[in-house]
Amino acid sequence: MSRVNKIKGFFDLFPPESTSYTFMEDKAREVLSRYAYQELRTPILEQTELFARSIGQETDVVQKEMYTFPDRRGRSLTMRPEATAGVIRAYIDSPAASSGNVSRFFTLGPMFRYERPQKGRTRQFHQVNAEMLGEDSPYADAEILSMLWDYLHALGLKKLSLEINSLGCPACRPGFDSKLKAFLAGMDQNVFCEDCQRRTVSNPLRVLDCKAPGCREVASGAPRIVDNLCPECKEHFDRVLAILESFGISFELNPFLVRGLDYYQRTTFEVISNDIGSQSAVAGGGRYDGLVGDLGGPEVPGIGFACGMERLALILQNIQERPLDFYMAVLHQEAMDKAMLMVKRLRGKGYRGEMGFQVRSVKSHLRQANKKNIKTCLLLGLDEMHKNQVQVKDMSTGVQRAVSHDDAEQALGLVFNPRGSSF
Ligand code: HAM
Repeated sequence: MSRVNKIKGFFDLFPPESTSYTFMEDKAREVLSRYAYQELRTPILEQTELFARSIGQETDVVQKEMYTFPDRRGRSLTMRPEATAGVIRAYIDSPAASSGNVSRFFTLGPMFRYERPQKGRTRQFHQVNAEMLGEDSPYADAEILSMLWDYLHALGLKKLSLEINSLGCPACRPGFDSKLKAFLAGMDQNVFCEDCQRRTVSNPLRVLDCKAPGCREVASGAPRIVDNLCPECKEHFDRVLAILESFGISFELNPFLVRGLDYYQRTTFEVISNDIGSQSAVAGGGRYDGLVGDLGGPEVPGIGFACGMERLALILQNIQERPLDFYMAVLHQEAMDKAMLMVKRLRGKGYRGEMGFQVRSVKSHLRQANKKNIKTCLLLGLDEMHKNQVQVKDMSTGVQRAVSHDDAEQALGLVFNPRGSSF
């Protein structure tokens, strides 16, 4: 029979790779909860309109990258390409939106973008996403960046750089857009890539962070949004930077940092790694003060970020799962029931272990335990069974001794507590 292949750009995560993902998720829960964030799980499928209206009709994500299809009744649905839009839709649907309180949510899970797969870029990828709604203070921006930084440090990642920019607000951005449009219109249009020839009119800001060489060259001489902020945006941005400095978080101002999603205003940022090739952004985010209102909710400001777990996994040092506490080796079929009961009791006490269901030689059982890096092997044969005993073997020293069934648990405890070890 022929096999069914998995879809291009989609991956199975086996251990030990899946262990890195568990590690990233556990650390996210640990660090983000210190900042009062709570988990929000939203559906993977949303109405297509949600993304078109939030991410922006003109963006690559909406134009080229969404998994969109009609359901059985012909309604257009899309597999979430990011978490922010769904979180805000859910927030607007909830009592939180009208409470007047600040809401803090994190979301972990898969996102889907039909991009050309390459190192650090997949069609199903996973994000650690955080959103704070209801606060426009620069302290909120600094807090969310501090949380992102703490998270990355908790993963053991220190060789990363933070790039930051401000994109202004509805008061100063239109003026800047016109200035930039006029500047871009004055250029030889042939130097722009195909997309940017369109963007110079439809979305001039995006020309600034295009990676095509011609566009880059033009961008380097273009007006900078940070020099064109209104007094309120400038004060806000200066405060954010001053607080970051006081936290000891170093950053680089990047006036070309625009981000690929259209909802951003004011503070925007990316975290870059130089160790993973061209897809170097391991996290990105920013403020989106108009978005909740644009999606039909109250005029509530917001800010957030998302880390790409596939990219973080590329730089994480070998994450190993803690080995199992014991391996139960059964040496005679008649001892199987007894062994099973003992294993059940140990698991009930919180020990983690594996049991081989086939009767094998001691050597073959030990090889099995060794392969899995298990430090203690319990051996149960006929002799032990009749004496109500079990052999406990410390795999690191090779020392083995018989203990009564009732003492097996204590023996395991001794093996794990090196100071208490009598082996
Ligand atoms: P984004 O920059 O589109 O922002 O994605 C965030 C991160 O997701 C990227 O920095 C990258 O690490 C990862 N990522 C994106 N696309 C892929 C892909 N195809 N393969 C692997 N990793 C990928 C957002 O998604 C915003 N929603 C972030 C945000 C939250 N802004 C405010 N709140």
